[in-house]
Amino acid sequence: MQQTDFLVIGSGIAGLTYALKMAQYYPDKNILVLTKAAADETNTKYAQGGVAVVNDMENDSFEKHIEDTLIAGDGLCNEKVVEIVVKEGPDRVRELIEWGARFDKEKDGDYKLGKEGGHSEHRIIHHKDVTGWEMERALLEAVSRQKNMEILKHYFVIDIITQHHLGYLVTKATPDIECYGVYVLNSQTNQVEKILAKITVLATGGNGQAYRTTTNPSIATGDGVAMVYRAKGRIENMEFIQFHPTALYEPGMKGQAFLITEAVRGDGGILRNKDGEAFMTRYDERKDLAPRDIVARAIDSEMKRTGTEHVWLDCRHFEKEKFTEHFPNIYEKCLSIGIDIARNMIPVAPAAHYSCGGIKTDEWGRSSIRNLYACGECSSTGLHGANRLASNSLLEAMVFAHRCYTDAVNRKDAIAFADRIPDWNAQGTNEPKEMILITQSLKELQQVMSDYVGIVRNDIRLQRAMRRLDLLWEETEQLYESTSLSIQLLELRNLITVGYLIVKGAMFRKESRGLHYNTDYKGKSELVQNIVL
Ligand code: FAD
Ligand code: SIN
Repeated sequence: MQQTDFLVIGSGIAGLTYALKMAQYYPDKNILVLTKAAADETNTKYAQGGVAVVNDMENDSFEKHIEDTLIAGDGLCNEKVVEIVVKEGPDRVRELIEWGARFDKEKDGDYKLGKEGGHSEHRIIHHKDVTGWEMERALLEAVSRQKNMEILKHYFVIDIITQHHLGYLVTKATPDIECYGVYVLNSQTNQVEKILAKITVLATGGNGQAYRTTTNPSIATGDGVAMVYRAKGRIENMEFIQFHPTALYEPGMKGQAFLITEAVRGDGGILRNKDGEAFMTRYDERKDLAPRDIVARAIDSEMKRTGTEHVWLDCRHFEKEKFTEHFPNIYEKCLSIGIDIARNMIPVAPAAHYSCGGIKTDEWGRSSIRNLYACGECSSTGLHGANRLASNSLLEAMVFAHRCYTDAVNRKDAIAFADRIPDWNAQGTNEPKEMILITQSLKELQQVMSDYVGIVRNDIRLQRAMRRLDLLWEETEQLYESTSLSIQLLELRNLITVGYLIVKGAMFRKESRGLHYNTDYKGKSELVQNIVL
């Protein structure tokens, strides 16, 4: 058993930002970060477009960024949180630069500012088309310079420990549920360890793997959300799954798809259907740079109308040098599969990309469970509402990591370590006989979510999805009770929980708003509400 004052789950931008700040504040304390894969295998690493932040006060303003965020969020953003993130963002970006992150500059030394859907101004700072890779690199290098931080890799957190593990009945109605630490599967030894902590931060990222095709890497299985739901904490607005309009289409695509950043459209890329028509003019006056929910739905509708599996992104009119300077990685990737962007259009299709809902927090990142914070993509802070504005996610993660740190920093002395926490009980379990049962169930889950809970939904589809998820849940619980733990099984269980939460949220929301589009309720309800489960 280990114990630490400050425990962090996740080594993406949210977890590392929080942990670094804590480590710098308490040089005499050891800050422990757990991560289920290699340290850099995170959604953060794959971020392309950049960070939306106001830094050109001549042409841009906080008010404009706030307004763009509110418009994209379609009436459901928490205005106070939007203001906090937009106004505190520049300081957080400055800190990241001080830790070593490099963003592209013009010849005069000003930052190059990109544009993406829903933004009224150029305000996206970036590192070519690999911004997340650069941010993750800088953070991990800063961590390596910090002597009092430890990242335990390939440590898979199974559950947070609460009063439930001490034998008390814990329900949604229990006041003051407390987090005492976590049970974690050490993948190297295959043993379950318990780690006690005074304060735990969940920074476990997204859940794109619930769908057949996603821009997210395989780690994005919604573990933090599922853990908090099992612990009877509050989860919010899970129905708002953002589909990125332009993942690179490759025949038979499934799993992680390569992203073609929205910044390509910001620089002038044009979406065309199979007849070559620039169809976005028919859907929205902002055309290719409308907010993501609108563009993804338009593409979905064009694909259905024309019976195709993708549309095209036309970049043939770009000056090749300019394209390769801003998007070298995309250029190379396209070339590697025989697409020369100067001569060929890029086949693109929507893919699950971002979870706008998640663990409900207050404006300091506190979850509904005491001593448990959440930040980054696993959280629901109120910033995104019904649809996240492009490139607001990395910004939110930094701002809320800082807020969690600010709130947690002085609380540790008021919290005692829990005692009498039992060891993990693995009695009565055997090695799984057939791993194929787990992989087949995962495929089924992804199929169900993609077919019935995608960009366009209706009540019958949602009911179907729920019935199928119920069955998958029952079968997976039987496996969980009877077999020894494996990461595949734990992830499957979490993904089914996340799928259930998405469908449940979607069933409760009797309207079409932002990313949730239900053809049975085409308009918006007058009742503007968050769905809390
Ligand atoms: P992540 O970076 O995903 O980190 C999650 C961490 O939690 C990982 O270390 C993982 O191993 C760990 N973890 C998860 N479960 C467990 C467990 N059970 N036990 C132990 N560890 C666990 N946003 C923008 O603002 N701008 C962009 O340009 C942009 N581009 C994007 C492009 C792509 C292809 C993708 C996928 C996303 C993009 N996003 C972008 C979104 C943004 O990258 C993510 O929302 C953000 O990086 C999430 O950071 P995070 O720290 O919350 O989670
Ligand atoms: C992109 O680069 O298009 C992704 C940006 C984001 O998800 O915010």
